[in-house]
Amino acid sequence: MSWMANNYACMTSRTASFWKWKPSWSLAANTSLMGLYASNGNLFTQCEPEGFRKITYYLDRPDVMAKFTTTIVADKQKLPVLLSNGNKVGEGMVDKKRHWVKWVDPYKKSLPVCAGCLSKLSALRSQYVTARGRNVLLEIWTEPADQDKAAHALESLKHAMKWDEERFGPEYDLDIYMIVAVGDFNMGAMENKGLNIFNTKYVLARQDTATDSDFHNVERVIGHEYFHNWTGNRVTCRDWFQLSLKEGLTVFRDQEFGADMSSRAVKRIEDVKALRAMQFPEDAGPMAHPIRPDSYIEMNNFYTMTVYEKGAEVVRMYQTLLGRDGFRKGMELYFRRHDGQAVTCDEFRAAMADANGVDLTQFALWYSQAGTPRLQVEGRYSPAEQSYTLTVRQSTPATPGQPDKQPLHIPLALGLVGADGHDLPLQLEGEAQPQGTTRVLDIKQAEQRFTFIHVAAEPVPSLLRGFSAPVRLEFDWRDDQLAFLMAHDSDSFSRWEAGQTLAERLLLRLLAEQAAGQTLTLPEAFVTAFRAVLKDELADPAFKALMLGLPSESDLLELVDDADPEQIHRVRTFVLDQLAAALRAEWREAYELNQTRDYRPQDAGKRDLKNRALGMLNRLGDSWSATTARKQGQDADNMTDQMGAMLALRDRAGLEREECYAAFACRWQHDALVMDKYFALVAGSQLPDTRSR
Ligand code: SER
Ligand code: ZN
Repeated sequence: MSWMANNYACMTSRTASFWKWKPSWSLAANTSLMGLYASNGNLFTQCEPEGFRKITYYLDRPDVMAKFTTTIVADKQKLPVLLSNGNKVGEGMVDKKRHWVKWVDPYKKSLPVCAGCLSKLSALRSQYVTARGRNVLLEIWTEPADQDKAAHALESLKHAMKWDEERFGPEYDLDIYMIVAVGDFNMGAMENKGLNIFNTKYVLARQDTATDSDFHNVERVIGHEYFHNWTGNRVTCRDWFQLSLKEGLTVFRDQEFGADMSSRAVKRIEDVKALRAMQFPEDAGPMAHPIRPDSYIEMNNFYTMTVYEKGAEVVRMYQTLLGRDGFRKGMELYFRRHDGQAVTCDEFRAAMADANGVDLTQFALWYSQAGTPRLQVEGRYSPAEQSYTLTVRQSTPATPGQPDKQPLHIPLALGLVGADGHDLPLQLEGEAQPQGTTRVLDIKQAEQRFTFIHVAAEPVPSLLRGFSAPVRLEFDWRDDQLAFLMAHDSDSFSRWEAGQTLAERLLLRLLAEQAAGQTLTLPEAFVTAFRAVLKDELADPAFKALMLGLPSESDLLELVDDADPEQIHRVRTFVLDQLAAALRAEWREAYELNQTRDYRPQDAGKRDLKNRALGMLNRLGDSWSATTARKQGQDADNMTDQMGAMLALRDRAGLEREECYAAFACRWQHDALVMDKYFALVAGSQLPDTRSR
């Protein structure tokens, strides 16, 4: 088998012999970015899912696993760096012009993770020593001019390697780990064995070019591709229907990594927000499909939010049901049983069940049923019995091709909050004593009832703590109960959720009033709740920033039948403007208190809160806020604060905006990644001249 590029390079694999073969296609014409393609004078491959067949003949299925030896030959001047999977075992000259490099990968692997890279790139290098003492050379390959933006990727890789050893046990298994950054890339990144190929967006980060969230995304994607070495490469998918076996699991792993590297509470809320914004609509629309689809025409179209993000929620539910230790035991058994194999989601589920001696038969439905399940919960307090009874009903709406759904196995994490704001000990009827203050109930039937005893006064239930299952929860809390949870819930996800539900209710009420032609007013209680969050000196600024966010326009679109996006936009804008005006002093104080001096990654939450305040202040249309934003843009030593200033001015016509945007474009016109941000801001402006701009 051979790969050959434009007559000046060739790769041979499986055997070490050199081939000369001129392909009938030209590399430049391959704009699909699948198979072997050129980008900025360098050559890259992308073989997952079905790219290898664009290069040469092969049994191009993920379950055809083999050990590969790769030799690459190329013009030494044009393409001095020749990379492939495994360990480098030799190199030399073929003739005066052409050099060769030979790579051997001692592990069996499936074709989609084979890769080659023929380039003029440069490497930033470091070392990592695994827990068992293997010395691993780490390399981040970028355009030479971008080398000063590769350090964060390198550090993130070391963190990921260490984290995986500690949390799940697996270690890296080759002598070298390479990451290559390319500007033209369809996906975020690709986990080719020992030779990850990345979109530059997920590698390059320097404080003046990348925002805090870019830094975070680099860390997350570096982690993701690294974790694939075990969940994807060592154990792979039997066929593409099983994509979630590796992707759902690996997203879950990168989410957990992110949670341990930053704030677990904030991370969880952000992940759930993304799921709801992008996966819930998929599950509710014509494209609804289970995390293990039944059929496909073009596999590339199945790299979906459902397969990835809902898939990660399904994996998370194993951990919620089995506990962290139980989940780890399941992972260990999965690796032990299936190392070197191409398997299915059923094998993963079996490993979880067998390692813990539990029956997870019903759990299989999560893999085959599409649609977001509804969980309707009712609570009834009996003063006479001193008991609190929850009735839980589940149903899943029909989706295309699946009219009838069966009850799923749903973990429902909950607590009961007493009048003093503390969680009550939870003792179910029939139990000898209380068992903790947060419990996970197994919901398996269409309707189930749970009675908690020794409950002295009516509690406020805190339901679906930590978002324990990817469902829509319905419970008829009173507004004052939501405000109470927002202030006291010990589970930060549920605290945030209570605030969001309150805001949602308010926005929906205003929407109805607006439709009826009434004059809108913002209730004082809502302003008070916001003020309390803003003035809470103990809370983590990143969490505060989340608490101060209103549900998005798309969240609201999901809640209203026959929604009118323009009306939703108007109502939401009204609430934001009112909150800006009513809390002017508090926003100003938040802006000033959250200034940071020298740039430190751990101050991301402060920057977020400060920039949110700056945005709110700029709603007021006064000159202080515009001047302050422009000055912040001018003085910023980091991209987050630059973008914060630009966003604050985005919807305000005026000199400050013009100057700030012009200076930015002038400074960054040669940096494609930074200019992407600029274009997104210009295009997202709500000013009337946006289209012409
Ligand atoms: N397999 C790749 C990934 O998810 C495709 O994007 O990491
Ligand atoms: Zn992946």
